Amino acid sequence: MTYQNYSLKQLQQIDAAHHLHPFTDHKEMRETGSRIITRANGPFIYDSEGTEILDGMAGLWCVNVGYGRDELADAAYAQMKELPYYNSFFKCSTPTPVLLAKKLAELAPKGVNQVFYGSSGSEANDTALRLVRHYWALEGKPQKNRIIARKMGYHGSTIAGTSLGGMDLMHKQLGGAVPNIVHVMMPYAYELALPGESDHDFGLRAAKAVEDAILEAGADKVAAFIGEPVMGAGGVKIPPMSYWPEVQRICRKYDVLLMLDEVITGYGRTGEWFAAQTFGVEPDTITTAKALTSGYQPLSALLVGDRIAATLVEKGGEFYHGYTYAGHPVACAVALKNLEIMEREGLVDRVKNDTGPYFAKALQERIAGHDLVGEVRSIGLMGAIEIVRDKATKERFLPAGSAAVVVRDHAIAQGLMLRATGDTMILSPPLIWTRETIDMACERIAKALDLAQADLRRR
Ligand SMILES: Cc1ncc(COP(=O)(O)O)c(C=O)c1O
Repeated sequence: MTYQNYSLKQLQQIDAAHHLHPFTDHKEMRETGSRIITRANGPFIYDSEGTEILDGMAGLWCVNVGYGRDELADAAYAQMKELPYYNSFFKCSTPTPVLLAKKLAELAPKGVNQVFYGSSGSEANDTALRLVRHYWALEGKPQKNRIIARKMGYHGSTIAGTSLGGMDLMHKQLGGAVPNIVHVMMPYAYELALPGESDHDFGLRAAKAVEDAILEAGADKVAAFIGEPVMGAGGVKIPPMSYWPEVQRICRKYDVLLMLDEVITGYGRTGEWFAAQTFGVEPDTITTAKALTSGYQPLSALLVGDRIAATLVEKGGEFYHGYTYAGHPVACAVALKNLEIMEREGLVDRVKNDTGPYFAKALQERIAGHDLVGEVRSIGLMGAIEIVRDKATKERFLPAGSAAVVVRDHAIAQGLMLRATGDTMILSPPLIWTRETIDMACERIAKALDLAQADLRRR
């Protein structure tokens, strides 16, 4: 029996009775009912009532080639018929992960040529954490195992992902984090730059927090620094251009590995295949997932730099780590086809040279001036809108974090799916968005802001 035999109400009741959702207040969801999305095409999603919604979040930062791609379904179907599954443990392999690894090595920044697969970004970060610690142990420095991460960073929801992340609310529910991970300030100029401090200087100061943490622990105790090139779930926080090169300089000075979490930024979002290229750094590990398959299959790839790979190979010994579905043949077939589509359609260049700059200009010209907007910022096709009570003083609405959801709800009602995190609205659309789609989104955001303003001023 297919879902068409059920009414929306029935599906919502069954959902409430049996389905525990991620990052959800279940009591609240049982009161309001869930929104059930039943199909999608191109840049649009459709709910069970048939309402068309422009998807400003590419699912969850992942559907970069948009919905309804027959080629991806065909690639999965063909692979399932030929070989639906075989593992990559115990010296076995299947063709598609092999070919995908070669392709990823071609696309990755210089010096990054190996791949370790998983099914999710969280798993890939678990692998990354274990791998860098294992690397230092193989190098005869097992005490060099501290990881420096950042406040408000998001690295997934497993115990290791949550520990690496810097979200207080998640840590509160953790009941004990993975030891030896410390969190330093984030490069978020809008709230943390000092009066009169230039963007450039703020970037250097935020990077200095990494150096301070290294010196406090002692460089011989610090394995690596991990960060998202642009903090995503934390509110699309785009660092000044001075930040990453300085972090890299510091890491090299103290022989600390540089780990980038590109689960969101990987595969074109910032206008290069990887944000490492946008910011001009050469990391030792790059965590990727999401847009690797445009979300059509669960797959992650931890890209591993030559330095770590060489030690792993040359020092030998088994790395006791891996997942049943690592290098899943169907997911890898879909990833290969997805990357082929992105290349054929020139989507990354389009973000860099056309839609990215157009998106930035549209947000500045049509959204930034609104009374509720403290700042807009974007890089490639990811953007943020800060919601404030007072533009000049940056004062927020109270209680903290309550205003952006009001705007978000109006935006959805206007036919635009976007996300609210704290007092920030975030956008991360499919890379197939055109100038026309961007215009459509801006119109809907402007309307949502007007409607939200009326609600919020009444408070
Ligand atoms: C930067 C970053 N890292 C890791 C993850 C975790 O990925 P997953 O949800 O696939 O485990 C996410 C998910 O949003 C993310 O944004």
